[in-house]
Amino acid sequence: MLRARITGTGSAVPEKVLSNADLERMVETSDEWITARTGIKQRRIAAEGEFTSTLAVKAARQALAMAGIGAEELDLIILGTVTPDFPFPATACIIQHELGARNAVAFDLSAACSGFLYGLSIADTYIRGGSAKKALVIGAEVLSRIVDWTDRNTCILFGDGSGAAVVEAYEGDDGILSTHIYSDGAYWETLYQAGCGRRNPASSQRTIDERLFFIRMDGSDVFKHAVRAMEEAAGAALSANGMSASDLSLFIPHQANRRIIDATGKRLGLTPEKVFINLHNYGNTSSASIPIALDEASRAGRLKKGDVVLLDSFGGGFTYGSALLRW
Ligand code: COA
Repeated sequence: MLRARITGTGSAVPEKVLSNADLERMVETSDEWITARTGIKQRRIAAEGEFTSTLAVKAARQALAMAGIGAEELDLIILGTVTPDFPFPATACIIQHELGARNAVAFDLSAACSGFLYGLSIADTYIRGGSAKKALVIGAEVLSRIVDWTDRNTCILFGDGSGAAVVEAYEGDDGILSTHIYSDGAYWETLYQAGCGRRNPASSQRTIDERLFFIRMDGSDVFKHAVRAMEEAAGAALSANGMSASDLSLFIPHQANRRIIDATGKRLGLTPEKVFINLHNYGNTSSASIPIALDEASRAGRLKKGDVVLLDSFGGGFTYGSALLRW
């Protein structure tokens, strides 16, 4: 059977670490509060001159090296991001150029924290349909540029980073077994950036006066929907493949909040050792969180041939989704 499978992964984060102790000096908060409510201990912050494309290219080079292919062999590059270098052209085109992937079609997609899984789903569809053979899917963000560093409700949560995966056509039974992606636009105002699009341009007085350039979020509403949606997407992946949670070797959820991950894992009936968590190191890196986790799990030897791995995401839009892989 013609399938798509991940043959290489990579990740890159900025050098600068911002710890909870650093945040205590910036807003009225504490390491204790942040740790108890989110599980986050530190996050990475992009340096001046470091952009989404900069981080994405680093992760992409690692993924290409692991897959053992050259950039010119790629026929598809998809970047999930909400922090593109520019409104246009697509940051994926800048990445294409930097990599020398001259034979690829490259585009960005905006699905917030589900950006990587949306991209993986599209790459899987292209590959199984015969329209592409070698795809690069990237999630990369510099969220620190759209975070209000005076708002303790949001600034503690987010970080910068990037992760990438090479996805190749393959004849066999392993690889991507299914993807399920969903949107629920009824909640678009629950988590969004109000300014800097065309509705509220960056240059408008209103955007400046009302500080619309920053992330806005109703945290408890997001929390509630996230657990329910991630359970739904995970359940769809398992039932589509006639599996149950006991078949999983590893669950890699979007790294937004430790309590969201624990609640989802509990609802699925997973034991803690089957749930991959690295958000204490990076915070919520939006579209980058799942590919960074996948890369770390792979390089740490936590993914063996034949393992069944479930990826599960939730983000602004709302968007959510899952992918079931046999490694
Ligand atoms: N430090 C200390 N206190 C803080 C704080 C901080 N960084 N941020 C908020 N608080 C305060 C609030 O002001 C509130 O005070 P009040 O009761 O005097 O008004 C109190 O803590 C409780 O706030 P609440 O919103 O009820 O806390 P919570 O348990 O819901 O936790 C979040 C807040 C944001 C951590 C939690 O809602 C969450 O993680 N939501 C999901 C966010 C997310 O993952 N977004 C991305 C999805 S992809």
